[in-house]
Amino acid sequence: MPANRFNGFTQYGVGVGLRIPHYDEILSRRPVVDWFEIISENYMVDGGNALATLDRILEQYRVVQHGVSLYFGSAQRLNDDHLRRLKALTRRTGTPWVSDHLCWGSVDGTYSHDLLPLPYTWEAVERTAQQIRHAQQELELPILVENVSSYAEFHDSEMTEWEFLNEVVERADCGILLDVNNIYVSSWNHDFDPMTYVNAIDPARVGQIHIAGHSRFEKYRLDTHDHPVLDPVWKLYARAIERVGHTATLLEWDDRIPPFDELHSEALKANRWLASAPQSPIAAPENRHAAA
Ligand SMILES: [Fe+2]
Repeated sequence: MPANRFNGFTQYGVGVGLRIPHYDEILSRRPVVDWFEIISENYMVDGGNALATLDRILEQYRVVQHGVSLYFGSAQRLNDDHLRRLKALTRRTGTPWVSDHLCWGSVDGTYSHDLLPLPYTWEAVERTAQQIRHAQQELELPILVENVSSYAEFHDSEMTEWEFLNEVVERADCGILLDVNNIYVSSWNHDFDPMTYVNAIDPARVGQIHIAGHSRFEKYRLDTHDHPVLDPVWKLYARAIERVGHTATLLEWDDRIPPFDELHSEALKANRWLASAPQSPIAAPENRHAAA
């Protein structure tokens, strides 16, 4: 694999998650936004208002798909019907890549709807990488896997989380969606140095970065996506950009969602670091939907 295969995504700039409370404002005012990330599952339907709105967004903006239910780490085989419907949506959106989480969440056809942490074992590395490879072949698009925030660990783990992530993406030949907020939340909950994590990640595999806010409690941190990005998370972001270079960046904000301009301003703070980051020499993937 070329060392910089995922750097083509770097010129996407700074995006925000597309959320229902902002639909009307985006469609009527058409703010200038580099790109929107959608939750694929919200649009994997045959019709209706959500899909109609998405089509109108696609007329004006680049859209990238992010999923929450592939569960690459589950022991059961990926759901063929889910993959088929996901692929149909990728054809509609023209997404240049598809992301989902490095986790498990289903057993024998029953879905937890949670992003559950994996044991960091060699067996899990092999199984998870195999599933990602399969999805990548079926979807015919690069997959980026995202590190999740976690609140429990397994005694059976044979390596650190960052070693596990590197091993999985190498074997799957896929990219990384590095969520620096998740790294920070997990580092607090499991008492490791988050900068060690960021410094260990293979920079050639990182195609996108998530930033988000979280909630602080006395004994733990919770990944709530309902606050501005906290300073220690910006520090991790700065270090990630220093290592990876200019990278597609996305602010997640899913609860207590502020007015669109407030949310977008928070995301655009990332430009402070992106502005001085080296640009990839590779052009961004073609997308028929130029940013407004
Ligand atoms: Fe994330």
